[in-house]
Amino acid sequence: MHTPHALNRRQFLRNASGSAVSLAVIKPGSVWSSQANSRIRLGLIGCGSRGVWIADLFQEHGGYEITALADYFPERTLAAGEKFSIPAHRRFTGLSAFQKLLDSGTVDAVAIESPPYFHPLQAQAAVEAGVHVFLAKPIAVDVPGCNTVAESAEKATQRNLVFLVDFQTRTDPFYREAVKRVHYGEIGQVVCAEAAYHDGPTWYKQSEYLKKQPVSAEDRLRAWGLDRLLSGDVITEQNIHALDVATWALDAHPLHAVGSGGQYRKYGTCWDHFSVLYQFPDGVDLTFHSKQLGQGHADILCRIYGSEGTLHTDYFGSVSIRGNLPYKGGEMVNLYRRGAATNIADFHQAVLTGRCANTTVAPSVRSNLTTILGRMAAYRQTKVAWEEMLSSAEKFEPDLSGLNP
Ligand SMILES: NC(=O)c1ccc[n+]([C@@H]2O[C@H](COP(=O)([O-])OP(=O)(O)OC[C@H]3O[C@@H](n4cnc5c(N)ncnc54)[C@H](O)[C@@H]3O)[C@@H](O)[C@H]2O)c1
Repeated sequence: MHTPHALNRRQFLRNASGSAVSLAVIKPGSVWSSQANSRIRLGLIGCGSRGVWIADLFQEHGGYEITALADYFPERTLAAGEKFSIPAHRRFTGLSAFQKLLDSGTVDAVAIESPPYFHPLQAQAAVEAGVHVFLAKPIAVDVPGCNTVAESAEKATQRNLVFLVDFQTRTDPFYREAVKRVHYGEIGQVVCAEAAYHDGPTWYKQSEYLKKQPVSAEDRLRAWGLDRLLSGDVITEQNIHALDVATWALDAHPLHAVGSGGQYRKYGTCWDHFSVLYQFPDGVDLTFHSKQLGQGHADILCRIYGSEGTLHTDYFGSVSIRGNLPYKGGEMVNLYRRGAATNIADFHQAVLTGRCANTTVAPSVRSNLTTILGRMAAYRQTKVAWEEMLSSAEKFEPDLSGLNP
C-alpha cells in the first residue's frame, strides 16, 4: 500500500482530498501538521492588485506556501517575486505563463486573479493538470466561458480536486441567515426585488494607457477593466456582486430581461451605466441599476420585497429583514477582506478533508449568466430570453495579436 512518502506530492494531495480510504487510513490533519513541508503549494496566476493582495491573505492563513507566479507582464512577476521571495525560474510571463506554471510541477493549487476573459481557459488547464482551483469572480465573460467553467468544476469533482469561486457575501453569517429566512418564507411571498451597484470611476490608472496614441495590444491588456471583451463589461465584472446576491435570495435564474445603458466616459469600450428589468419565475420583477461614474453614493445592494417583509443587504452597509418576522442582522465589517479570508480557509479545509462537491460553482455560473443576459438585453435594447441567450452562445474574442506568447 502507498504511504504518503511513496506518493508523488501532488498525487498525495489529490488522494487526501478525495479518497475516503486514504482519509480513513491517514488523518489529514495529523499528516499535514506533522510534515515539515505540509503546506499547500500555491501558484498565483495574475500578480496585479487583487493577486498580490490576496497572496498576502493566503500567507497569513499559514497553510499555504506561495511557490510560483504567472503574469503576462515581467515587471508584475518581478515585483511579486521580490515580495514573496520566489526564485526567478519560478516566475512565468507571457500569455502562456499559466501553462508554464502548471507544467513546472511546483504547485498543488492555483489562485486565478487574472482578467476575466482568461479565467475559463486557465481554470480548465489547472484541472487538467490535477491542480486545485481558487477562482476570482467573474468566472467568465461569455456563455461558452461559463460552460467551460461548469464542465471544469465537474471534472474537478470527479478528479478529487477542489474548485472554489471567491464571492465574499456568500461567506458572511448575516447574509447566510437572512437569505435562509427568505427561503423559509419569513418575508412571505416574494413579489418584487431590486439590485444596484453604484460606484465612481474605477479604473483611473488603467485609463492612462488608453489616452495615448497609438494604443498597443499591451496597453489594451493593461487597461482590461475598460475593455468589454477582456472584462465582460462592468455588469459582469463588477456588478455581479449585487446580482449574485439577488439570484441567491430568489434562488432562481431570470426568465428574460430588457435593458438599456451607455457610456459617458470617452475611453475604453465598457459602458459605465446599466439599467435592466429582469423577470424571474412567478412574476417576480427585479430592477437592476448600476453606474461607474461621478461621485456620491457607492453601494452594492439588493432588496427583496415580500408580502410580509423586506430583505435588505448592502456589501458595505448592513444586512437585515424588516417586517412581521424581523431579523436584526448586522453591519458588514470589512467584508471585502473577511470574505476572502474565509474562502481561503474554506479552500484549505476542503483540500485537506476531501470536500470536492465544489458547491460555489453552480451559483456562480447562474449569477454570471444573469449578468450576461442583462448585458445582452441592454446592448440590443430588446427583450432577451434566458434560453435565447444560452443558445446564441455569443463568444467574446479580444484581439490578442501582438502579445507575447
Ligand atoms: N471583491 C472581489 O472579489 C474582487 C476585487 C477585485 C478584483 N477581483 C477580480 O480579480 C481579478 C483581477 O483583478 P485586479 O483588480 O487584480 O486586476 P489587475 O489589473 O490589478 O491585475 C490583473 C493582473 O493579471 C495580469 N494578466 C493579464 N493577462 C494575463 C494572462 N493572460 N495571464 C496571467 N496574468 C495576466 C495583469 O498583468 C495584471 O497584473 C478580476 O477577475 C477581478 O474581477 C475580485
